[in-house]
Amino acid sequence: MFLGILVTQAIMFTVKDLRQKYLDFFKSKGHIIVPSASLLPENDPTTLFTGSGMQPMVPYLLGAQHPLGTRIVDSQKCFRSQDIDDVGDNRHTVFFEMLGNWSLGDYFKKEQIAWMWEFLTNELNLDPRRLYFTCFRGNTDLGIPRDSESAELWTKHFKTVGIEAAIIDFPERDGMKDGRIFYYDETKNWWSRAGVPGNMPLGEPGGPDTEMFWDFGEELGLHEKSVHAKKPCHVNCDCGRFLEIGNNVFMQYKKTPHGFEQLPQKNVDFGGGLERLAAAVNGNPDIFLIDLFATMRHVLVGLSGKKYGTNEKETYAYRVIMDHLRAATFLVNDGALPSNKDQGYFTRRLIRRSVRFAHKLGILNNFCGQVVEAVIAEYGDHYAELVTQKDFILAQIHTEEEKFRKTLAQGLKIFEERTAKLQSGDIIAGVLAFDLYQSYGFPIEVIDELARERGLYVDRVGFEKAYAEHKAKSRVGAEQKFAGGLADHSEISTQYHTATHLLHATLLRILGPHATQRGSNITQERMRFDFNHPLKMTPEEIKQAEDLVNAAIAHDYLVSWAEMSFEEAQAKGAIGLFEDKYQSKVKVYTVGDINAKALADPSSPTYSREVCGGPHVEHTGTLGHFRIIKEEAVSAGVRRIKAVLE
Ligand code: SER
Repeated sequence: MFLGILVTQAIMFTVKDLRQKYLDFFKSKGHIIVPSASLLPENDPTTLFTGSGMQPMVPYLLGAQHPLGTRIVDSQKCFRSQDIDDVGDNRHTVFFEMLGNWSLGDYFKKEQIAWMWEFLTNELNLDPRRLYFTCFRGNTDLGIPRDSESAELWTKHFKTVGIEAAIIDFPERDGMKDGRIFYYDETKNWWSRAGVPGNMPLGEPGGPDTEMFWDFGEELGLHEKSVHAKKPCHVNCDCGRFLEIGNNVFMQYKKTPHGFEQLPQKNVDFGGGLERLAAAVNGNPDIFLIDLFATMRHVLVGLSGKKYGTNEKETYAYRVIMDHLRAATFLVNDGALPSNKDQGYFTRRLIRRSVRFAHKLGILNNFCGQVVEAVIAEYGDHYAELVTQKDFILAQIHTEEEKFRKTLAQGLKIFEERTAKLQSGDIIAGVLAFDLYQSYGFPIEVIDELARERGLYVDRVGFEKAYAEHKAKSRVGAEQKFAGGLADHSEISTQYHTATHLLHATLLRILGPHATQRGSNITQERMRFDFNHPLKMTPEEIKQAEDLVNAAIAHDYLVSWAEMSFEEAQAKGAIGLFEDKYQSKVKVYTVGDINAKALADPSSPTYSREVCGGPHVEHTGTLGHFRIIKEEAVSAGVRRIKAVLE
């Protein structure tokens, strides 16, 4: 009997160990480890944030050659702003790390499923009796067949530990029927950045997936029995018993006007939530109980005098604060400084929400810095830049916290004014309560408390109504923002991308070798480029930069690329090496003579040489006219240029 020899949860890992184990495991299977890309996508106008591990990989999944080969592994920082309202339960976070391994036209289902089985059951020592898998049911309308191959592969692995794993169709209708492998439709077992096949823009890659679930035990579902009164429990239901711990996407299709076509290569895109896997290893479904949150929890206990997990409302506040300040720390680190627009808006919202939720724990004074320090202490080993940028991050978050506390004080004044005429027993209109909530960031509980002190009542129904109306409006806005950009892999982005290289090389010529890139962002309308420079650029420098870029465009340089070793790239004067300790081979784009060394010298036949994944235009002459529309500070020592091609 296999049951006797299984060791359940015998070994505990820290999150750090777990991340390293995963990277090392796939390294041992011939993968190259690459560092996480920024949370703010570079040269990708399609989304505001990196929200999945595959995002930086899209060009390679579509067929471009990855400079490091066909087997890549990483742990990618991800931010999903759309999950903000779900934070507070035991498993949602806006920030997380996604473990990812990729086959870029290399191995496929057989190897991926075998390695995942080995990783989960041998490396992490997870009990196979608590593992469940889902596969794509197939859809004849889409012309995509059922993924019975994956289902059979999982069955075979279960057999090796003595488990007869039944394959069940329609678990959402019929329940689990003692099965371990389940077929679902494309709403569950299909992955693309845009979701289900119907939502995918033309050109978008996607494919069926097989997802892995961990069972925390039937007992967890029991208190939710009512949930199952009408509908049976199954791995994709929300009762809390099962947690998805990873997703193997078989990225092999591309949407075309004539339906789905095979991509030039069959890829594997695995994504597994690091924190969720840690929760499975920890044997507790509450991901906020994994070790990486321990110091943060400790700081909050010290400040509030309240223990985590004793009462629902406070636990909710704890989770929001830990999640939001962790996310804000990483966002600021990657350049999304608190502001009223774009990515910075989210950073602002996260900090403000944390301050509001801290009120619920009775924390009324500045506290964010202490939590941020705990975040940096936890992640500093793996993300060294958090340590080097620590003072900057702390200062940014502190300033935002202070600012918000002043707004809160103003809100209090408004509250006094607008309720001055009310008598004891009167009702505060829902719209007013919502205004205090929305414009001044008052938690509704605080408004309630203030009201009660004056013998007043808040119209909670009216408040909820105003809240729901507002939420519906902002959701429409968010969807438009996402949908608006997604289809774009356009010519204009490629042109801006090449212009970015020209500007980078130009600034190094004009300002000096310190003026290296700190970040870049491209939309349909403009390019943005952040770089190191201590001073405001003078009007003469700006004019000179424009003139040089325009001269390089007029010269109509050839743009070409080659793969080379890290050392060779360095020797040939390539920029943009970004201290990449893992890379052995890199892809290098040259504007101008590919054979000459790139020099910051006006007579150099090579205008720019930069390590980059592409894509770029073939000739600079196609770029049009380059104009700088803004030059401004981002932070101490970092400047930002916004420019357009006309
Ligand atoms: N792209 C898939 C996901 O985000 C797997 O990496 O779930």
